[in-house]
Formats: sequence, structure tokens, C-alpha cells
Amino acid sequence: MSGASTSPLPPTGGALFSLHGRRALVTGSGQGIGLTLARGLAQAGASIVLNDVDPLRLEEAVAGLKADGFAATGLLFNVAEEASVQAALSGVESTIGPIDILVNNAGIHRRAPLESMPLESWQAVLDVNLTSAFLVSRAVIPGMIRRRIGKLINICSLNSEISRPTISNYSAAKGGLKMLTRAMAVEWGIHNVQTNGLAPGYIRTSLTTPVVADPVLERHIRVRTPAGRWGEPHDLIGAAVFLASPASDFVNGQILTIDGGLLASL
Ligand SMILES: NC(=O)c1ccc[n+]([C@@H]2O[C@H](COP(=O)([O-])OP(=O)(O)OC[C@H]3O[C@@H](n4cnc5c(N)ncnc54)[C@H](O)[C@@H]3O)[C@@H](O)[C@H]2O)c1
Repeated sequence: MSGASTSPLPPTGGALFSLHGRRALVTGSGQGIGLTLARGLAQAGASIVLNDVDPLRLEEAVAGLKADGFAATGLLFNVAEEASVQAALSGVESTIGPIDILVNNAGIHRRAPLESMPLESWQAVLDVNLTSAFLVSRAVIPGMIRRRIGKLINICSLNSEISRPTISNYSAAKGGLKMLTRAMAVEWGIHNVQTNGLAPGYIRTSLTTPVVADPVLERHIRVRTPAGRWGEPHDLIGAAVFLASPASDFVNGQILTIDGGLLASL
């Protein structure tokens, strides 16, 4: 085997994890994990495009990042609607600039027992948590392929692997997102685009408020987690910066679980 390398040598030291000169679009980043990841990517040097479906939330998030001296723009669109995604992203390269990093983060819950779950709840969760990653990635990928550089990070979940009652729609969507991550990796890896999943464990946000509010469930999660605590959004920043940076240029199709060890424990 000749073994000749066609890959340039990676940067060294801090530059390995630097996002200077890169632009990141983070969907559903008006609050919660998305906003925290956007801020973390900005601290690593990226300019940020925030997205949300809630205009006020988006406006406040953009203002907050700008007030802290970061380069940030807002794009209001619904990740689950094809026309909305197309309208927002078809001209993005000429208006805002190239997107080098896409974090497919937007997600929702509609909890109900499986036997009485309305089709509307099933469909809404599939649309926002799974189909959205297809729609937004499809809109952003042509520029990445043309420039031969790109990082896609799909926000999966512990529920990509394990489930619990009342979240069958969410588990199906996040399990699907895990496989979509691998499908993107095998299809777009040849273009020097790496696609990986970041799978948070139980993180304190508005999405998990009903779980935190249930003392039995809250304790169950805490006791089952080897770290002995719930996660906070900032626990995810290091993994996101890694997956967005040159440090992960040969990492493709992986799901990085950030759960304080929960998935490893019985
Ligand atoms: N919180 C957790 O414990 C946890 C665990 C695993 C995975 N996740 C995933 O992390 C991601 C973020 O969750 P979070 O906890 O920060 O939730 P969150 O509810 O705090 O924030 C989600 C944001 O997405 C936005 N959004 C919802 N639907 C949208 C749409 N159609 N188009 C654009 N934006 C939309 C919301 O307005 C909101 O600002 C989700 O994909 C979620 O499934 C969360």
C-alpha cells in the first residue's frame, strides 16, 4: 500500500480548536442548549448566525451575543417547513456569507402515552427533531461541497439509544437523527464535510422542566447518573467546539454522548 497522505497537516496548539474565520448557523438557538452552544462557538472564534421560530426570543439572543462583543446575526425561520427554510437560506451566502458549521439543534417534545398519542403530536416531533435536519442541511450543503469544507453537528439525545414512557415520538425522531447523521457522513465525507452527532443526557432547560418538576423522576435521573448531577447546557460546549474545529477533521459519523456517564450505567 502506498499510504500517501492527501490531507494537509493539521494546525497545532490552540489553533487545532480555533474557529476563527468560520461562520456557524445554530438552529433553535433563541434559548437553551442552542444559545449556549452558539456562545461557546463564538468564544472559540466563530461568527454566529442564530435561528429561531420565536421572533422575540431570537431578537433577544442576538442582542445578548452582540452586547458581549460577538459577531451575531439572526435568521427567523421554521426549521420544519420546507418553504420557510428555503426562503431563509437560499440567498444566505450572498447576504450573510458562507456557512462553514451547521448545528441542527432545534427540537421539541409532545409527551403522551403511545396508545393515546395524537397523530399531530407524533408528526410535529418527527418534523421538528428529524425532518428539519434534512431540510436545513440540504439547504446549506451545496456551499460546503463547493468550498470543500464543512462541519455538521446534529443534536441527538440519550433517546437516540434508550427510551422511557411517553416519549415514543421523540425517541423515534432522535433514533432516526442518529442514522441520518451516519447517512450524511457516508454521503458527504468525500467532500471534506464531517457530520457527527452530539447526544446530551439530561440537561436543565425549558424542555426538561416537566422532568425536573417531578421529584421522583428528577431523583431517578440524578441517582442513575454516575456524575451524581443533572447536566447544564455549558457542559456541552467542549464537545461542540471539538466537532466544529480542525481537531475533528477525521472524525465522521460518530455520536458523542455527553451524559455524565448515564448510558454506561445500569
Ligand atoms: N434539554 C435536554 O435535556 C436535552 C437532552 C437531549 C437532547 N436535547 C436536544 O437539544 C436541543 C435543544 O433543546 P433545549 O433543551 O435547549 O430546548 P429549548 O426548548 O430550551 O430550546 C429549543 C429552541 O428551539 C426553538 N424551536 C422550536 N421549534 C422550532 C422550529 N420549528 N424552528 C426553529 N426553532 C424552533 C424554540 O423556540 C427554542 O428556542 C433539542 O434538539 C433537544 O431535543 C435536549
